[in-house]
Amino acid sequence: MPNPELAEDDVLIEIHAAGVNPLDSKIRDGEFKRILPYRLPLILGNELAGVVIRVGPRVRRFKAGDEVYARPDKNRIGTFAERIAVRADDVAIKPTNLTMEEAASIPLVGLTAWQALIEKANLKKGQKVLIHAGSGGVGTFAIQLAKHVGATVATTTSTANVDLVRRLGADIVIDYKKAAFEETLRDCDVVLNSLDAETLEKSLRVLKPGGTLISISGPPDPEFARQLGSNRILELVMRLLSFRIRRQAKRRRVNYSFLFMTASGDQLRQIGAIIESGAIRPVVDRVFPFESTKEAMAYVETGRAKGKVVVRVR
Ligand SMILES: NC(=O)c1ccc[n+]([C@@H]2O[C@H](COP(=O)([O-])OP(=O)(O)OC[C@H]3O[C@@H](n4cnc5c(N)ncnc54)[C@H](OP(=O)(O)O)[C@@H]3O)[C@@H](O)[C@H]2O)c1
Repeated sequence: MPNPELAEDDVLIEIHAAGVNPLDSKIRDGEFKRILPYRLPLILGNELAGVVIRVGPRVRRFKAGDEVYARPDKNRIGTFAERIAVRADDVAIKPTNLTMEEAASIPLVGLTAWQALIEKANLKKGQKVLIHAGSGGVGTFAIQLAKHVGATVATTTSTANVDLVRRLGADIVIDYKKAAFEETLRDCDVVLNSLDAETLEKSLRVLKPGGTLISISGPPDPEFARQLGSNRILELVMRLLSFRIRRQAKRRRVNYSFLFMTASGDQLRQIGAIIESGAIRPVVDRVFPFESTKEAMAYVETGRAKGKVVVRVR
């Protein structure tokens, strides 16, 4: 591929490591083709850590040689590569206490957990949150972020990962092989769902009235259509897709919202400060060489990763 073109407010980054996410396989399989304008051939990869090579004439915050990490804008992905141009606003200085591989594992899941728990749910000290799939990429970060805020954290995982999620700080661990979370938990203020529609509906039962159910695995709601600037038809489709869960949520007097995370250098800076304080540690399951990116994606697709999977590019 040719070298990426650098716009006035872009930074050109030499990628050292790239995180792998279920999102990469979903994009490859065309799951987002109605809402994201990708054209083939396409370089996959939604997050990176690396070194700034050059900056556009309007960039003040970064210079060549800076070690950075980022989730590029959804319309400009492509971190399974040696170089990428990213909008400076989407980039932050890499936490100094992390290796390149560790830093590359953070942006997508860190921003997702931040936007769900802090921005949307406004999670506060003393509140109770249920984080589904606590041993996954999003879960391992979200548990630690919620503990950092001072919340009581409940999580679901399988027997093999009970110790892992406890070490991350989970107060209540529900082994889904042995117990049903909807029969064990009550009075949660917030639920973060990343699992299927059945889990989403059952999650309503553990919330207190006024609580918040946030799903990152669908169904999308009309608010998301507006955020995308979609046409009326797509907004109607999303209204229909989420009709059932929104109606059930209303009956129980809880709020439902869908989140599709967005790039943000500002939030990555705040996340970086928490990581440098030692309150959150990355959980990296496996690092693959660049040549084995397909194998790395296949491993994530098994749905059994403990924390994150990373590709070492340099
Ligand atoms: N909308 C957004 O902005 C956004 C952002 C990030 C991710 N997502 C989506 O969120 C989902 C999760 O992402 P991720 O990166 O965390 O995935 P991941 O790391 O691949 O998740 C794997 C983990 O899920 C756990 N798991 C699987 N089934 C489970 C169940 N029934 N109950 C509890 N845990 C279960 C597994 O633990 P066990 O082996 O113990 O089962 C494993 O540790 C994906 O669908 C992804 O596309 C959406």
